[in-house]
Amino acid sequence: MITLDTAKNVLKKYGQEHILAGYEELDEREKVRLLSQIEMTDFSVLENLNIENRHSSKRGKFEPLGAVTIEDIARNRDKYYSAGAEAIKNGKVATVLLAGGQGTRLGFDKPKGMFDIGVTKELYIFECLINNMLNVVKDMGVYIPLYIMTSKINHNETVDFFEKKNYFGYDRKYVRFFIQDMAPSVDFNGKIYMESKSEISVSPNGNGGWFSSIVHAGLLKDIRNKGIEWINVFAVDNVLQQIADPCFIGAVINSGSQSGSKVVSKASPDERVGVLCTEDGKPAIVEYYEMTSEMRELLTADGELAYKYGVILNYLFSVDRLEKIISEKMPVHVVTKKIPYINEKGELTIPEKPNGYKFETLVLDMVHMQESCLLYEVERCKEFAPVKNADGVDSVDTARELLRINGIEL
Ligand code: UTP
Repeated sequence: MITLDTAKNVLKKYGQEHILAGYEELDEREKVRLLSQIEMTDFSVLENLNIENRHSSKRGKFEPLGAVTIEDIARNRDKYYSAGAEAIKNGKVATVLLAGGQGTRLGFDKPKGMFDIGVTKELYIFECLINNMLNVVKDMGVYIPLYIMTSKINHNETVDFFEKKNYFGYDRKYVRFFIQDMAPSVDFNGKIYMESKSEISVSPNGNGGWFSSIVHAGLLKDIRNKGIEWINVFAVDNVLQQIADPCFIGAVINSGSQSGSKVVSKASPDERVGVLCTEDGKPAIVEYYEMTSEMRELLTADGELAYKYGVILNYLFSVDRLEKIISEKMPVHVVTKKIPYINEKGELTIPEKPNGYKFETLVLDMVHMQESCLLYEVERCKEFAPVKNADGVDSVDTARELLRINGIEL
């Protein structure tokens, strides 16, 4: 572990000396805890507070990108299905569930996947996802490896829940958990908050670190040993998420693309969703707030929205490509959040409004690290039912309604 002097030097470099202000009052165990946390923390993310380093200020030239449409897919279904089924049956496909988020908007105090969306019976979000995977397993006659990313905050609860629920019928031999990395949280002046006198305030560093976290967890060897070539990454909160979809996988493989993304047609120019397009000739996702109104409303010759295809956080990446880009630095997003901290009296304070920044890397930025990406259009009402908010848009109620429409008993 680092010495007190080394810690002081690191903190001085980043203007964070206050972290050690109460050091002498700590007992030996707390001292060790604080020094090892300083050692483990990546302070370089703080450089992103400098406005010039911010991701959004550095975007290139955007251009629209077309998709394999629902109609194209219907015409080529058999071809896609058999290519995808072959890859799955030969063990070339794995899935990664991103479940390290804090789900603050939902306001549920457990991991989001533990939320019970059932009405007359229990039906957990995790259960919905596993049920969807089990449909594919039944169809294919083989289990598909599932890697679940958690965070330090929700890891034990998530693993215990899966154990208690017997993995909802999924063969546990095919399930592996791994923990994502954390990043420090700062106040609006860039000073790192403390959670207690011996603990820096940290939070999960966004869903973009999933592949490097797989590598840190030693699971890349497992992936390689199994001969896995493709990884389907998906979000925890879309209860209609179709995972390891053979047609999607087959379409991407047949297209020769390095990656694929499920997309939905935007409901309106103003829908607040990230759109897949190209940026300086490479696939990229432009966020709603980064688009000018001109871009949002631009039409093609056929009268369709030019920037039409919204992402639903369901991507297919090739392991070869992921290994190549692992050393490339991902953009770090600076996000305004409510961050609990200890005040001058040493009391833990839970703020009512945003009081600082967190640092996140995002899986959507990985798309821009690919030379190519196949956009694969899916029907929104069949595959997109996100549970983001407690009520209103993308909420428990809207997701329940969509589950019912799809014949799922609640
Ligand atoms: P969101 O961006 O919706 O974040 O995550 P969230 O943490 O779930 O919810 P809010 O914003 O606090 O309300 C999209 C997906 O990425 C995962 C989430 O679990 C979800 O599947 N995620 C997000 C991570 O795995 N790690 C993170 O650090 C953040």
